[in-house]
Amino acid sequence: MADEPLVLGIETSCDETGVGVVRGHTLLADAVATSVDEHARFGGVVPEVASRAHLEAMVPTIQRALKDAGVSASDLDGIAVTAGPGLAGALLVGVSAAKAYAYALGKPLYGVNHLASHICVDQLEHGALPEPTMALLVSGGHSSLLLAPDITSDVRSLGSTIDDAAGEAFDKVARVLGLGFPGGPVIDRYAREGDPDAIRFPRGLTGPRDPLYDFSFSGLKTSVARWIEARRAAGETVPVADVAASFQEAVTDVLTRKAIRACKDHGVDHLMMGGGVAANSRLRAMAEERCAAAGIELRVPRPKLCTDNGAMVAALGAEMVARGRAASDWELPADSSLPVTEPHVPGRHHAA
Ligand code: KG4
Ligand code: ZN
Repeated sequence: MADEPLVLGIETSCDETGVGVVRGHTLLADAVATSVDEHARFGGVVPEVASRAHLEAMVPTIQRALKDAGVSASDLDGIAVTAGPGLAGALLVGVSAAKAYAYALGKPLYGVNHLASHICVDQLEHGALPEPTMALLVSGGHSSLLLAPDITSDVRSLGSTIDDAAGEAFDKVARVLGLGFPGGPVIDRYAREGDPDAIRFPRGLTGPRDPLYDFSFSGLKTSVARWIEARRAAGETVPVADVAASFQEAVTDVLTRKAIRACKDHGVDHLMMGGGVAANSRLRAMAEERCAAAGIELRVPRPKLCTDNGAMVAALGAEMVARGRAASDWELPADSSLPVTEPHVPGRHHAA
């Protein structure tokens, strides 16, 4: 175990300042400071507010993570950081901090992809990822079906959302229901008291001529909003729990159906789920049930590792070190639209 790479990971792509420490596949620390309360009154993340909060939280969160892990910075084999995708200003704080620590400590720097990190984090929970890995990645900004022969170097997109991300749909529906931000956890809670079959909301892109692995949640969101407006216009009370449960059912039905279809079509016998929406209790239960029926092994990290955190970045960084991938150089940019197909951003000037 001692010769497995010891890596610190920094995540600042959105509103969580996450710093994790891992040794190979072992989680040693997962410190997170969130600015979510500062955004709640705006109904969404305000980039400038997030950047400033990252700046304030960065050094204390790094110190806390090192203390929790019981390691000193000089023992690290590398510093990994989310280079993208995400909010430009927020990413910049993490990338600058990672460069400063790596330079001062004389450690290699690994700029990694936020989405590949959401997948790689499962190694901390269930051990080495199977290769290729089939992953359903569902977060506030992304909904994708990915096939990764090698999570450090080869990630392929089978399909993605053509409009809203799954998490975005949760956030927007919660807003229409007046439930606040972020919407996912609160809809998840209300839905437990509701009837998922109360209202039949549309399942986007599931027709015979529709693309097999792409998603669309914008029509669903509009349909839910219209349904609520009609009740309000008629002076009726809106059955919040039933709407939440029926909406959630439509999202999870489509996500699991398409993911299992992708596994079958590609002859893959497992499914990894990651990203904030993978924390959803109904999605986890439905995926469990449907995967079992299809003979597919389901791998989902615990909810805290599904939402944004630094441990996932450290996990991917450790895999980069273990596989001898090239480190990044000091010009590493924060790339707000880093493609999902680029798991890391190697330097142009040197190999690790
Ligand atoms: O991965 P993540 O923490 O940040 C991004 O990279 O986007 O995902 C955040 C998204 C938000 O849209 C939030 O509403 C959603 O994940 N989310 C959930 C749940 N917990 C978080 N959605 C549904 N059910 C949940 N329990
Ligand atoms: Zn994320």
